[in-house]
Amino acid sequence: MLLAASALHADYSTQSGHGYSASLGELRERFASFGQEHVFRFWDVLGSAGRARLAAQAAALDLGALAAADRATRELAAPGARCLEPAPIQRLPEHGGDAKLAAAARECGEEMLAAGRVAALVVAGGQGTRLGFEGPKGAFPLGPLTDRTLFEQQAQKIQGLRHRYGRPMPWYIMTSAATDTQTRALFHSHAFFGLPEGDVYFFQQGMIPAFDFEGRLILDQPDHIFESPNGHGGSLTGLVASGALDDMERRGVSSIYYYQVDNPLGRIGDPVYLGFHAAAGADMSCKVIAKLDPLEKMGVVARIDGRIGVVEYTELDDEHRYARGSDGELVYWAGNIAIHVIEAAFARRAAANADRILPYHASAKKIPTIDDNGHPVAPSEPNGRKLERFVFDALTGARWVTVLETRRDEEYSPIKNASGADSPQTARRDLMAVYRRWLSDAGVEGLDVTAPIEVNHAVFDGPDDLRARRIRRVAEAGDAIRIAPGVAE
Ligand code: UTP
Repeated sequence: MLLAASALHADYSTQSGHGYSASLGELRERFASFGQEHVFRFWDVLGSAGRARLAAQAAALDLGALAAADRATRELAAPGARCLEPAPIQRLPEHGGDAKLAAAARECGEEMLAAGRVAALVVAGGQGTRLGFEGPKGAFPLGPLTDRTLFEQQAQKIQGLRHRYGRPMPWYIMTSAATDTQTRALFHSHAFFGLPEGDVYFFQQGMIPAFDFEGRLILDQPDHIFESPNGHGGSLTGLVASGALDDMERRGVSSIYYYQVDNPLGRIGDPVYLGFHAAAGADMSCKVIAKLDPLEKMGVVARIDGRIGVVEYTELDDEHRYARGSDGELVYWAGNIAIHVIEAAFARRAAANADRILPYHASAKKIPTIDDNGHPVAPSEPNGRKLERFVFDALTGARWVTVLETRRDEEYSPIKNASGADSPQTARRDLMAVYRRWLSDAGVEGLDVTAPIEVNHAVFDGPDDLRARRIRRVAEAGDAIRIAPGVAE
């Protein structure tokens, strides 16, 4: 393991070699030898509880590995140093994809779901700083007409899959120190949204300290070193460290359906995607949409030095960002929407080789700190570098990868900002547009296209469900389809 901090917090007290047993003198000496002695600068004024807190946190840090991780972020191949080529992608039928292949893939994916071989994994450990919502993002009320939270909407989708395929679908929820308590409390206070409690498994990702621009750890309290969640790539190490992967294997799960908490349009357990992934014998797969323009902030899928992977938008150079083919289309058009299928066996291999496959990336951020008097400071400009692992880096460690194109209007409208683009307003608008399309595709009548609408995914998760239940008019769907009162039936 790279760092003590890359394991669960609870593991801190169990680290041999860096444990509480190290005397304070040795601990301070070790920090001094790494140029980090400033961490103890308030020691003399700390009470006994503060000293214990700081000493325990400091003792758990493997400074050598941490410094190496930070150094490695600077050694990540400079954008121009990597050879990029377009990746092969299963296109949508309207873009030349083979509809017959997609139909065969659906059958294969449905068999996997009916055999109980698929688990859902949501990464919900992020701090949602841009959204600025009090609480975990998954607790954000996004129902267009109700206070249905993102987590409840996902629970409905999973409930729908359970009914459709007659098998439990275990749901793994990755939290972090920043989101864990509130996430669990939400599930308990809502009786797990109707799912069996035993099929919902919470685990925490690791935390990792940040560095200022001189490579020094940052105190955010006189007795505490600032740490933040170690990135969505921490899901792979976290699955192993927490025992969640063992739990999956005990349940006969072979494929993990990975998604982010903040995209209410994302499908869970899409059988076509699962089928393409399985038919190709892929270790890990990736769903993409066409980027709107070269500057859209999305990582693109490409062959990187011969292996399929994702280049983060911050790491794509202009030559490739703006490259267009003879047809005028972007060469690197395939934006990653962070919905992956990952083989459980591959997750284990990737976690075991995390230092190589999942290197840390650094980004400049405003990191809460304290001044020389120990008073809190909220910087107005970036003052340090946060380190994160990116789950899509694992693609380059996979023996085989499938990349599948999907439609933006059907599958992607994330909630990143409090207002404007990628906000709750745009996500609600796009979700309602999806619902209206389902109804119209299924020939359901009596819909005022301007009326706000909300659909219960546990009952209807697409036009096929409406057809199967022979819903002809909105009113026949009961509570499962709500329309704003007085606007339409
Ligand atoms: P983002 O990178 O968009 O971060 O995460 P965020 O926390 O939601 O928002 P900002 O950047 O602070 O505004 C994409 C997905 O990855 C998860 C998030 O919860 C979200 O589902 N994530 C991110 C984690 O689970 N852990 C992390 O350490 C980082």
